[in-house]
Amino acid sequence: MSVLLVILGYLLGSIPFALIVGKVGYGIDIREHGSGNLGGTNTFRVLGGKAGLIVTIADILKGTLAASLPVLFSVDIHPLLIGMFAVFGHTYPVFAQFRGGKAVATSGGVLLFYSPVLFMTMLAVFFLILYISKYVSLSSMLTGVYATAYAFIWTDDVPLRIVVTLLTLFVFYRHRANIKRILNKTEPKVKWL
Ligand code: G3P
Repeated sequence: MSVLLVILGYLLGSIPFALIVGKVGYGIDIREHGSGNLGGTNTFRVLGGKAGLIVTIADILKGTLAASLPVLFSVDIHPLLIGMFAVFGHTYPVFAQFRGGKAVATSGGVLLFYSPVLFMTMLAVFFLILYISKYVSLSSMLTGVYATAYAFIWTDDVPLRIVVTLLTLFVFYRHRANIKRILNKTEPKVKWL
């Protein structure tokens, strides 16, 4: 049963909402526009606020749902483990040629289930950094750093510490191109804040 939940978590994470909304709602493949990323930020950038919000919320909630699977099916497996497979599915989706997003929203959704307080403070940190820097990518990465610090300073939850550290390293890895663009000052800034 645990293996089935791992697979289900991966499949849930693999649902490419940015691709679906782009193709069904607007007839375009979001991967051929903007940063090419299958995520909420690029959907905002290419298709506007309504589509961006739908994709961001859906990407968050699939992480939340995946992490809740052990409770829903009464299986003794750690929710963060299933959550990690959902994040893996989001970044390497079987339903979208393994070209997915950058692990941010779905990781947030996993933490929304596991520690709503951490998630809420992450949102505050994210928007504070976004307000100051105007870079979504930088805000995403530094929010991961904050979440890691939170897990080590304010909890003694070892699985949370391990998973948040791994997810943050993964988020940095997935933002390699953004880091280069930030350093050479070509990373796009948000205009609405
Ligand atoms: O969540 C992804 C975001 O941090 C960066 O997206 O499209 O600007 O590379 P993008």
